[in-house]
Amino acid sequence: MRPVAIVAAGMTRFGELWQSSLRDLFVEAASEALANARASRLDAIFVGNMAAGQFVGQEHLGPLCADHLGMAGVAATRIESACASGGAALRAAFAEVASGMSDLVLAAGVEKMTDGAEATAVLATAADQEAEGYQGITFPGLYAMIARAHMAAHGTTEQDLAAVTVKNHRHGALNEKAQFGRTVELAEVMTSTMVADPLRLLHCSPVSDGACAVLLCPLDQARKYTDRPVKIRGSGMATSSMALADRKDPAWLDAVHESAVRAYAMAGVEPRDIQVAEVHDCFSIAEICCIEALGLVERGLGARAAPSGETALGGRIPVNTSGGLKAKGHPVGATGIAQAIEIFEQLRGDAGKRQVKGARIGLCQNMGGSGASSVVHILERA
Ligand code: COA
Repeated sequence: MRPVAIVAAGMTRFGELWQSSLRDLFVEAASEALANARASRLDAIFVGNMAAGQFVGQEHLGPLCADHLGMAGVAATRIESACASGGAALRAAFAEVASGMSDLVLAAGVEKMTDGAEATAVLATAADQEAEGYQGITFPGLYAMIARAHMAAHGTTEQDLAAVTVKNHRHGALNEKAQFGRTVELAEVMTSTMVADPLRLLHCSPVSDGACAVLLCPLDQARKYTDRPVKIRGSGMATSSMALADRKDPAWLDAVHESAVRAYAMAGVEPRDIQVAEVHDCFSIAEICCIEALGLVERGLGARAAPSGETALGGRIPVNTSGGLKAKGHPVGATGIAQAIEIFEQLRGDAGKRQVKGARIGLCQNMGGSGASSVVHILERA
């Protein structure tokens, strides 16, 4: 395998972007990435997208995106793994460059969720339809069951869940691309509208539009495009049972754990080497479970991390410095690339008020469904 670097990134603002179509969003993010690298050609494009067919009636995104970028003719494929589509697109691009198949590859992600489709129903198609969907369960409901399981097993409280939201909104308020640029207080979270007990409105990531793109090439060619490349040191992907009821312990995300074990092994690093992490906080409980499964905190102790300040900017291991899915927004197919961009900027020292001082190694983890798929990447300043 050839060592691979990320050399440039582009990203739209996240939010309800009614003035832009799906293709507009993709072109904005991809053009910015190409311009930042002063690149005018590509060998391949991978577009992460969960459900454009259901959200906006558009399938066949590979050629659509290449065409509207002015690059019809380039190899282009859509990659789908529900909310982990962006992470899976990054992994496909990494493999394409590492294998020697291509030299300059765009890994992108895009989702347009606010054009009128019934978002909750569309998202629910990423659950097991026969075991879960047909019974009427939605994602807030599935994660509420994970939260109840975690509370029963580890004594996690509603206050612990709320502390994750408060932290991520505090980080998001420092991110001009975030959907919610405001801080929230603990009491506001704990009295917000109940969505699926114990998860309230302010425990949920929002419904969002947005697109992101990063440019990958072999590490030994990276200086053509930037003086500060970031190396992809490890990539791991894993799956678990689709249905939550089939897991031995619903509070333990085994696909997240296994994808991390694989990424750490490829990178030759341990959880204690990670200095900044973006993890999949689609609901506040998800961040708690993910940091445990990634080994960033001990199993069962995830709920203590946000209240103690351990995962805040300035803490032992800052998590979701971008604001996470909660505050930055969650255009599902774009999220995995947005996470990689936050770590890319952190490792280059470009994260402004969100900068983790001296960060050299970072991790991003992107999850599909209720944890049925997970992708982890470990990045290092080159
Ligand atoms: N966090 C903070 N504020 C939110 C929010 C969220 N998650 N979702 C909506 N809001 C705000 C809106 O900005 C709006 O504020 P305004 O009145 O000041 O404009 C207000 O709450 C009402 O918004 P609305 O769009 O009517 O909310 P909703 O009730 O339709 O949706 C949720 C709220 C929580 C149900 C929706 O955001 C949701 O389904 N989130 C989960 C998405 C999901 O499952 N993703 C996949 C994960 S696996």
